[in-house]
Formats: sequence, structure tokens, C-alpha cells
Amino acid sequence: MNKIISKLSQIKNKKEYFHWLFIYSKPYIPKILLVMFFNIMATVISILMALLSKKIIDSAQGGNIILWAIGIYLLMIFVNVAFTIANGVVSIMLNERFSFGIRKQVYEKIINAHWMDIKKYHTGDLMTRFTSDAGNVADGIVNTIPTIIELLFELIATFATLFYYEPLLAIFAIILAPIAALISYAFAHKMHKYQKKVQESESAYRSFVQESLANLLIVKAFTIEDHSVDKLTNLRDERFKWVLKRAGVGMASSSVLNMAFQFGYIAAFAFGAIQLSNNSITYGTMSVFLTLVNRIQAPIISLASQLPKIVSIFTSAGRIIELEEIQTEEKQMTNIESNTVGVKLQDVSFGYNPKDIVLDNVNLDIKPGEFVGIVGESGIGKTTLVRLIMSFMNQNNGLITFYNEKDQHEAANASTREFISYVPQGNTLFSGTILENIKMGNMNATDEEIQTAINMAAADSFINDLPMGVNTVIGERGHGISEGQAQRVAIARALIRKAPFLVLDEATSALDENTEIKVLEGIKKLNPRPTCLLITHRRSVLDYCDREIKIDNGHIY
Ligand SMILES: Nc1ncnc2c1ncn2[C@@H]1O[C@H](COP(=O)(O)OP(=O)(O)O)[C@@H](O)[C@H]1O
Ligand SMILES: [Mg+2]
Repeated sequence: MNKIISKLSQIKNKKEYFHWLFIYSKPYIPKILLVMFFNIMATVISILMALLSKKIIDSAQGGNIILWAIGIYLLMIFVNVAFTIANGVVSIMLNERFSFGIRKQVYEKIINAHWMDIKKYHTGDLMTRFTSDAGNVADGIVNTIPTIIELLFELIATFATLFYYEPLLAIFAIILAPIAALISYAFAHKMHKYQKKVQESESAYRSFVQESLANLLIVKAFTIEDHSVDKLTNLRDERFKWVLKRAGVGMASSSVLNMAFQFGYIAAFAFGAIQLSNNSITYGTMSVFLTLVNRIQAPIISLASQLPKIVSIFTSAGRIIELEEIQTEEKQMTNIESNTVGVKLQDVSFGYNPKDIVLDNVNLDIKPGEFVGIVGESGIGKTTLVRLIMSFMNQNNGLITFYNEKDQHEAANASTREFISYVPQGNTLFSGTILENIKMGNMNATDEEIQTAINMAAADSFINDLPMGVNTVIGERGHGISEGQAQRVAIARALIRKAPFLVLDEATSALDENTEIKVLEGIKKLNPRPTCLLITHRRSVLDYCDREIKIDNGHIY
């Protein structure tokens, strides 16, 4: 019973995959058909060439050389080459466009998905899905599926031609096709399993490379270079193992098929030879028979060899569908005026998992324009509180509401991020110039606004000392400037947003006390004064706050 259910759900899955593949391919169908047309024309011409050669051979045996036939034969070679070239050009374009189409959707999905859901995946895994899996699907739609249709066409056309001349021989040649289909089907399940393992081990491998390169300094600091190379080799070996297994199944399936067809060919050959010795057929017929028998078997064998590709389309489609099923963040347009906003938490509870509650029935009201300092020991839930206010994740219970002085309300959602300027913990700069980084806070900021933000973040002195100033190029995660400098750039990036609510998560931890106080004083003097949530460990900073709250053991005091 269970087996039947799992079989049924597999079928439902396949239907869903087909539907998904169809939706994706729809815009490209005309181009795909064009490619198929080129290929089918090439097949038609090959068949005509075989028939023409029969005519040439037969009449040569009769002492006649038909020059026009040879001429047409040559012409057909040229036309065939032309079709092949046209096909190549169109299919390269198609492949590029299609694979980018999928990648763009995958990227959009990842960018717009719930942060918590997407963070469950390693960046390396997401990259594998974005590149390799999307590539497999694109290649499948653009190349494999049309190839299969063409091969089927070739098979039917050749079979029909052969059947017209010699029905028995045609049946001889094709009798093994259903057996081939069964053999392939039997192997497909195993292949799917191995293909999945191949993609998973590819993900693990890429994740490791990406992470160790991003943390090169740690690798060096702990002198684990050799260990890292070993680990890389191990991960590669793991992938290699699955690739071999997949190849093994592929080989087994194609060898069985190949052998089956060799027998078919020998049978057809023997049958033809007997006919020839009886003088019931001509040499020309014999030659065209053998060509056509070959031409029937070739597509069947090619069809069988498409099996691993079909399996890989479905496996990769499954991995992409998995991402697509992640919920997209809901954005409710905010209707409240937002010169100044406060935020209210009512009975809010949250845990990253049900067993570990980080915040337990928390009530907190941060009033518009208020400076609130948050303290609490490391790992207690300060950043978690910020993430809830930022709607990076949803509370398990309770309400989080933004409100303004006119008492207009808006429940926290992805759109209420509009109200917030956020300076996260740690280094969060992008590679590029300092200016590009700051402008991320507000793409439309004027030069004057940028300069004001830089001054307020106390970043002016060090930026002015750089030979290229704001146009200085920094590397990944702010490589090339100090941590305290990176923090000031991140503060400028937040300030330029001019949002009414400012969140600083240990954002001034790498600044000296004087600079830190200078930055905070500047923010306090802003008009209108932003609401400010400041996470800090420093007493001196707390003196600047209107109120201090402490998180301990899931509660707020
Ligand atoms: N993404 C996450 N998944 C699971 N647990 C997390 C995650 N982020 C933080 N935690 C846990 O939640 C608790 C609070 O973390 P956090 O809010 O970052 O503390 P801090 O007060 O130092 O900012 C910690 O016990 C931490 O282990
Ligand atoms: Mg924190």
C-alpha cells in the first residue's frame, strides 16, 4: 500500500515537474521549434541522401553514372552543413537566454524570500542551485528535450522508409525498441538517486571552497592550509564516488542496449545477405537497408543515452522547485506618515526553535524620538530583538507595531523596513568604492547629503586621508580599511537613508570612546530627531540614552 502511495506521489511529482518545466519554457517555444526544425531538416536530407545513393549505386551497377544525382548529392551536403550551422547559432543564443531566465528567477526568489528560510541553505548550496542546477534545466529544455523529439522523428521517418521497402527488415530493426525503453526505465530510478547525490556533494564542495576562501585569514591563522586541502580532496572524492556510480548505471544501461542492438543489426545483416544471395534484392537495396537499419538503431541508442540527461533535468528541477516553494516575504505598503516613529512590542515571544525560547512574552514601547540603550550579556537575544523589529523573521506570538505621533499604526512587515536605518553587527561592506557602499543607503542621495552623512559618522578624517577619497576601492567585506573605519562607513550608509528609526547593533564597538560620543551627539542633534535603538556594552554610551533596558533570560527589564 505504502509502495503504491509513494509511486503515486512520484507520478504527481513528475506531473508537477513537467508543469513547472512547461511554464519556464513557454516563452522560448518558438525558438526551440526553430532549432528542432533545422535538425529535422538535416534528418530528412540524410534520408534523401541515403535513397539517392541507392539510385547512384544501382545505376552504376547497370553501367550508368547519373551525374545529376551526384550533383544533388553534393548540394545536399552543403544544405546539411548550412542547417547544422544555423542550428548551432540559434541554440547557443537560446541556451544563454534560457539559462539566464531561470537564474534570474532563482535569484529574485532568493533575494525576496524569508531570510530565515533561505539562511537554512549554505551560500555554496544556493550557488550550486543557481549555476549548475539552473544550467542543467536550461540545457535540458534547450538541448535534451528537442533532441529527444528529433530522435523520435528520425526513428519514425527512417522506420517508415525502411518499412516501405522491406517491412520484415524494418520490424527486425525496431523490435528491440520497447525492450530498450523498459531497460532504460528500470535504470532511471537508481540514476536519479545518484544524480541527487552528485548535486548534493557538489554543493558541499562549493560551500567549503566559498567559505574557506572567504575566511582565508582564519585558515592561515590556525595553520590549517594542509588540512583544508585534504578536506577539499575528500569532498571531491565524495563527489567522484557518486559520479562514478552514476556513470556505472549509465554504462550498464547503455551497454545492455548496445548489445541488444548489435544483435538486431546482425540479424538484419544476415537477413539482407540471404536475400542478396537469392538475388531477390540488389546491392543498392542491400546498401540502403544497412544504412537505414543503422539509422534506426542510432536514434534508439541515442535516445537511451539521453536518459542520464533527463534524470539530471528532473533532479535539478526538483532542487530549484524546492527553492521556489519557499515563501516570499509579504510586503504591505505602509500608510502611516513617518516623520517620527516608535515601535511597540506586545507579548512577543520568539525562539529559533521551539525548545529554545529567546524572548518570552516581551513587552516594550520605544516612543518616537526616544534613545533606548539595550544591554545584556552576549547571546542573550539583543540581535534577535532587532531582527524581529526589522521583520527579518516573524515572532511566534504577540504583536510588533510601528506607530507615529498621530497614533497611526502599522504592523511590522517587510515594508516597515522603510522606517529603519540599520547598522548591523560585524563587517557588512561590499566590494567596490566607499561611495558605492554609502550610496546603498539611498541611491538618490546628493553629494551634499553624502558629505553630511560622512561627517556625522566621523568618517571624514580617514576618507580625506585616502588618496582616492570616497572613490577608494575596498575589497570584500571592507578589505583594505580598518574595522573601525568600516563601521563608520556602515554608519554613514545608514544615516544617508534619513529614516526615522535608527538601529545600531554594536555598531560603534570598534570606535574609540571620543569618536563614538561624537557620532552619537551628532545623531541626537538631528532634526527631526530619529528614534534610536542602541545595542552596546559601554557604560559611557548608555549615558547618552534616555532609557536603558536589559534583556535577561528571555525577559526585558
Ligand atoms: N540564526 C539562528 N539560528 C538559531 N539560533 C540562533 C540564531 N541566531 C542566534 N541564535 C541564538 O539565539 C540566541 C540569541 O542570539 P543573539 O540575539 O544573536 O544574541 P546577542 O544578544 O548576543 O545579540 C543565542 O543563544 C543564539 O545562539
Ligand atoms: Mg548581537
